[in-house]
Amino acid sequence: MNTLPLYIGGCFQNGADPSQDVINPATGASLARAARATTAETEAAIRAARQAFDSGVWSGATAMKRGQVLLEVAHRLRAQAAELARLETENMGKPVLEAEADVADAAACFEYYGGLATKVTGEVNPVPSDALSLTLKEPVGVCGQIIPWNYPLLMAAWKLAPALAAGCTTVLKPAEATPMTALELARILDGVPDLPKGVVNIVTGDGPTVGAKLAASDLVDKVAFTGSTRTGRSILRAAADSNLKRVTLELGGKSPNIFFADAHWEAAVEGAVFGVFVNQGEVCSAGSRILVEKSIHQRFLEAVVEKARTIRLGDPLDPATRMGPLVTAAHRERVLSYIEEGRREGARLVLGGGKPNGALARGAYLEPTIFDRVDPGMKIAQEEIFGPVVAVIPFEGEPEAVEIANATPYGLAGAVWTRDIYRAFRVVKKLRAGVVWVNHMQPTYVEAPWGGVKMSGAGRELGLHGIDNYLELKQVYVHLSEDPIGWY
Ligand code: NAI
Ligand code: MG
Repeated sequence: MNTLPLYIGGCFQNGADPSQDVINPATGASLARAARATTAETEAAIRAARQAFDSGVWSGATAMKRGQVLLEVAHRLRAQAAELARLETENMGKPVLEAEADVADAAACFEYYGGLATKVTGEVNPVPSDALSLTLKEPVGVCGQIIPWNYPLLMAAWKLAPALAAGCTTVLKPAEATPMTALELARILDGVPDLPKGVVNIVTGDGPTVGAKLAASDLVDKVAFTGSTRTGRSILRAAADSNLKRVTLELGGKSPNIFFADAHWEAAVEGAVFGVFVNQGEVCSAGSRILVEKSIHQRFLEAVVEKARTIRLGDPLDPATRMGPLVTAAHRERVLSYIEEGRREGARLVLGGGKPNGALARGAYLEPTIFDRVDPGMKIAQEEIFGPVVAVIPFEGEPEAVEIANATPYGLAGAVWTRDIYRAFRVVKKLRAGVVWVNHMQPTYVEAPWGGVKMSGAGRELGLHGIDNYLELKQVYVHLSEDPIGWY
């Protein structure tokens, strides 16, 4: 059995407790054993990152050098793309076609921030002429980076690339279920000659042990987290109770995908299906509520069900597959309990709702599931399910669409489908969300900011703004003469 190491201070070491079973969710087969880092091991990783930061070996490297290192990481990711995609699919269950796109996106993220490293500049502030006021941008320090299992490699890239570009050092914690590609990334990073030891540490383990330690440690200056709103809250609390470290959060969602009667029919039908079923619905921005104008409700529902029936559920390593198993059998049980809840609440199940049998029975598969006539107040319309389950909610007119769209505690994303540009932009302006698509849903680019409002998070990742999470401002005042103040 392949035992996965911890990566601390530039060394791969065996963990004291290598008891985390890593499972292929498509087959139930065991892939490896990962370390569940102890508190002492987590502290060692934090100390390594602290030491690397305080020594100045990385923050003091030229921005050009840091950028070159990131470009080299991207290059190595692309050279290993096929192998990484396969590993991601085996560990996480997503269709290999999606995993290939994720690897390319991860490489692009390192390229983008590799380029941006040399474009971080300070400012000169317009103070009176007897002084010079400068704003310097400095790395925030040691970062704890806690990521989920739905995009294991891509989330590692979203976290590491801007932090490294800014000159920070980090301890990255993958999700319990999906350590494979993060540790492969550790191998890649370890092989890049100009990346000093201890700048990146990768520590697998349990959230309440490793993650909670990162959030509570006084030696950590900033935590970046992607995951559930519940865990996000505990991280914010731990930061408040320790050293008031900087916190950015990318949390849950219940994003509305809004369809008006004039939308382009075929694009809209496919967009409704893709919006929620891509990546098995295990997407923070999943279009898990389909809001549809009453005049087309019945016909649209039928078309969406018809399209969803064509989704190829199967072996995720088969390039023809469009939906794989859920990440774990336990997660499938959680999603199934929401399906049960939807039935109990009286929503109408019109597609799926169960585990497929036959050849797929040994994996954590779940059928694409559609509930119709969902009341906006029902649990399945309010809570994040994080699986292939969608709630169809009819509406009458634009104000009601907006009202329903905004009536959840979340505000990550949303989409509106219409050919009326006035209406499109009116709705865009009224949606309380961090990301809004018009006539599409889900495309995400490293060049543009990402993140949510309300209980979907705090702060924005990606784009030019993404690097600000890893920079502190220092205002410098320079007095331009030797004259005393003359106050006394
Ligand atoms: P989670 O938020 O508990 O886990 C995400 C990461 O946080 C993992 O690395 C985990 O080990 C870590 N973590 C867990 N407890 C922690 C703690 N007390 N302190 C610090 N770190 C901690 O999410 P989980 O349990 O995997 O999934 C539960 C639900 O969360 C899902 O059903 C879904 O609704 C939501 N979720 C949302 C994601 C998003 O991208 N917005 C991603 C993953 C889950
Ligand atoms: Mg959890």
